[in-house]
Amino acid sequence: MLDRPQMITVSGMPLPEPFAANWENVQRFQARDDDVLIITFPRSGTTWMSEVVDLIFHEGDTEKAHQRPIYERVPFLEWAGPDMPTGTEILDNIKGRRIMKSHCPADLLPQSFSEKNCKVIYVARNPKDVMVSFYHFHRMHPISSTPGTLQEFMMGFIEGTITFGSWSRNVKGWWKNRHQKNVLFLFYEDLLEDTKPEIKKVMTFLEKDLPDDVLEKIHQHTTFRAMKENKMTNYTDLPLDVMDHTISPFIRKGICGDWKNHLTVAQNEIFDEFLQRELSDTDLTFRYQD
Ligand code: A3P
Repeated sequence: MLDRPQMITVSGMPLPEPFAANWENVQRFQARDDDVLIITFPRSGTTWMSEVVDLIFHEGDTEKAHQRPIYERVPFLEWAGPDMPTGTEILDNIKGRRIMKSHCPADLLPQSFSEKNCKVIYVARNPKDVMVSFYHFHRMHPISSTPGTLQEFMMGFIEGTITFGSWSRNVKGWWKNRHQKNVLFLFYEDLLEDTKPEIKKVMTFLEKDLPDDVLEKIHQHTTFRAMKENKMTNYTDLPLDVMDHTISPFIRKGICGDWKNHLTVAQNEIFDEFLQRELSDTDLTFRYQD
């Protein structure tokens, strides 16, 4: 097994050392007018939205989607690892339209995206489920920092010392920008509850007027079950020392409220106090159960 990387804080955001070393290249990244960004705090539905957006641009062509894994069709802007091309290098070499994912807080988004007015789809998810999901992700992903116990990880989440730093900085920054014409702000819980209207919102935002049968096809192809079983979306093609699905699958439960199976009453109280502090200056609210 590889050693877990050291975390380095860049602009207040802890990143794995290779990401931090490549950060200047991310900041200097040259956006193009038709770039589309899917931005989230990790574990908020990035992969789900990536598959939806890729299918929308390919008008529901699921065969095409089956040709390459999602991390190639929707590269990760901040990605960097030893002996492999970085996200910015991969993206620089794409000739056609680029769909990319990012976990950048609004205040750290590379300037060229704003200059080009690129479309941003932001997906937010209730932070209790995000924290629990991210904890399991850290366990199965040795390239992330050491998760420790759930209690330790929760405290890191609250203090903003985990990978990608402060959840509230990320979500509140994008929430402030939600009325901009080039930003679509969505909630994971809405996608879960009533998927097709949310996919339709994404289509409208991307100016893709597709017929209902295509919408239905995209919906069927991106259900939790379909994405869990699909090798092109479930990351099972990666080696075990990158993601060990025997510890926890990448596409894990896909529900609202799993935090209740993990947090003790005392932990939940600490988390609620954190949310009270962090969200009292905003009208942003979340759903914590179905
Ligand atoms: P859980 O760990 O709670 O199951 P990201 O892609 O941002 O890393 O988010 C991963 C989370 O989204 C995981 O949450 C995963 O199971 C969930 N997810 C992925 N595809 C999904 C889908 N089609 N429907 C519902 N949830 C999905």
